[in-house]
Amino acid sequence: MRITDVLLGEHGVFYAQFDYLQHAVRSAGNVAEVQSLAGMLDAALASHAAMENSLLFSALEPHLGAQSGPLSVMRWEHDEIERIFNQLAQARSLKEAQQLVADVLQVARAHFVKEEQMLFPAAERTLGAATLADLGTRWAAQRGVIPEAAYGL
Ligand SMILES: [Fe+2]
Ligand SMILES: [Fe+2]
Repeated sequence: MRITDVLLGEHGVFYAQFDYLQHAVRSAGNVAEVQSLAGMLDAALASHAAMENSLLFSALEPHLGAQSGPLSVMRWEHDEIERIFNQLAQARSLKEAQQLVADVLQVARAHFVKEEQMLFPAAERTLGAATLADLGTRWAAQRGVIPEAAYGL
């Protein structure tokens, strides 16, 4: 199980959550309701970004560099997503809160596409099968799911 495959699987679940949130905030009645709806996505995206930062991006740094290039862009976008969620926590009007959700969804969708079209393929070309599988096993341990080795496959 390669790290790129499991991260791609996480993206698939997020797309369903993005679509749900996009529609749900339109009928929200107040700021607190928008903040509550977005809170679950905030927690899940922070966890996803932490997995990417600590596992995949760290492994890619010796190959792609850390200070400039695609990894610095991807890390900046992780931080940008968190900045928007922090702004949402301070939002004062329903309209502002709805706009911030629209903003975070736009940044997150564009970020995911870049990872899927550019970064994950670059990782698969660069890291090699053993490293990709080792990172996948570490992902399973950190997520608390049972890796395929436990089934004797
Ligand atoms: Fe990411
Ligand atoms: Fe991602």
